[in-house]
Amino acid sequence: MSYTIKINGQRRVVDVDADTPLLWAVRDVLGMPGTKFGCGMGLCGACTVHLDGAAVRSCITPVESADGQSVTTIEAVGSTHVGRAVQKAWLQLDVVQCGYCQSGQIMSATALLSSNPRPTEEDIRTGMAGNICRCGTYVRIQQAVEQAAK
Ligand code: FES
Repeated sequence: MSYTIKINGQRRVVDVDADTPLLWAVRDVLGMPGTKFGCGMGLCGACTVHLDGAAVRSCITPVESADGQSVTTIEAVGSTHVGRAVQKAWLQLDVVQCGYCQSGQIMSATALLSSNPRPTEEDIRTGMAGNICRCGTYVRIQQAVEQAAK
């Protein structure tokens, strides 16, 4: 089946089975490897992308549900004001350790601040709770989201 996805501002056609996870269309068909595979079960957040502005787990999102919609990945998140602020804060606070989960963390943080520009500490904890970091960078992630919100 063919599906048309507006990915990072460009209309692209992907020809895959309807139940193919969006993650594989993004990485293997569209050639954007910044979105990572972690658990494959919607539990870790490494694969987070924006589907029409909302954070979704691309490993459990069938590509057919993205047909005709806009998808933003880590490769283009910096093209928005909020995404740029998040990336800047991430760099300033040196958040990253191994880095594997961080594209998902940044996508979730950007979605959080886009819908809630002045989150409380608790809002951030709750909003970022679905993104797991094996290195335990949670304190710096919390600080970076707070800084990006300023
Ligand atoms: Fe999608 Fe873990 S790889 S949530």
